[in-house]
Amino acid sequence: VLRGVIALDGPSGTGKTTAARGLATRLGSGYLDTGAMYRVIALAVLRAGADPADPAAVLAVAERTELTVGTDPAGVRVLLDGEDVAVAIRGGDVDHAVSPVSAVPEVRARLVDEQRRIIAEVLAAQGGIVVDGRDIGTVVAPDAPLKVFLTASPEARAARRSAEHGATGVESTVESVRAAVDRRDRLDSTRAASPLRAAEDAVALDTSDLDREQVITALTGLARERG
Ligand code: C5P
Repeated sequence: VLRGVIALDGPSGTGKTTAARGLATRLGSGYLDTGAMYRVIALAVLRAGADPADPAAVLAVAERTELTVGTDPAGVRVLLDGEDVAVAIRGGDVDHAVSPVSAVPEVRARLVDEQRRIIAEVLAAQGGIVVDGRDIGTVVAPDAPLKVFLTASPEARAARRSAEHGATGVESTVESVRAAVDRRDRLDSTRAASPLRAAEDAVALDTSDLDREQVITALTGLARERG
C-alpha cells in the first residue's frame, strides 16, 4: 500500500474529513485535519473579541495562541491554550469567522510551517499520513504521491453539513447551511493566498452519490493502485 502523504482537498460538505479519518484508519496511517487548525485560530479570535475581518488583529491573536491538533484518526485531540475545543470549533460562529481568518497570509504561513513539521514527525514514526484541507496538494505537500480533490453537488454538500450539525446539536435548516457553505467556498476559492483549487496532478472524486463507506473504499482503492 502507498506510504507517504495522501493529500485530500476540496470544499466543505464533500465528506472529506470523515473519509480522511476512515482512510487513515484502514491504512494504519496518521491523520491531520488542517481545517481544525484554522478553526482553533478563528475561535481564539472570537474569544479575544477581535474582528475576524481585521488581518492585523487576527495575526496578533494567532501569534499568542498555542494550538495542538492530534494525529490519531480514532480520536482527534484539539487544544487551544491547553483547553479541549474539539466541539467548540464546530460551532456556527466559527464556521462564519474561519474564512476571513484563513485568508491572512501570515496566519497561513505559520500554520503551513506547523503542518509540515507535524507531517514530517508522523512520517518518521508511522510512514504514512492522510492530510485533509484546501491547499495540501498545491502548497503544504506538493510532492505527495497521491492527491485527491473531492467534489460534490451543492445539494449533497448542504445535506451533509446539515446532518453533521444535527449530530452535534446545532440548529440549522438545509437552506441556511447551504448559504453558509456557499459563502465559505466563495471566500476560500477567491482569496489571494493559496486559494482552494485542485492540484494539476490531483485525481477528482465526485462524492455526491456515494455514502461514507463508498468514499473510503474508492480512496483505499486509489492508495492501493499507487502503492
Ligand atoms: O475543513 P474545514 O471545513 O474544517 O475548514 C475550515 C476552514 O479553514 C475552511 O473553510 C478554510 O477557510 C480554512 N482552511 C484553509 N486551508 C486548509 C484547511 C482549511 O484555508 N488547508
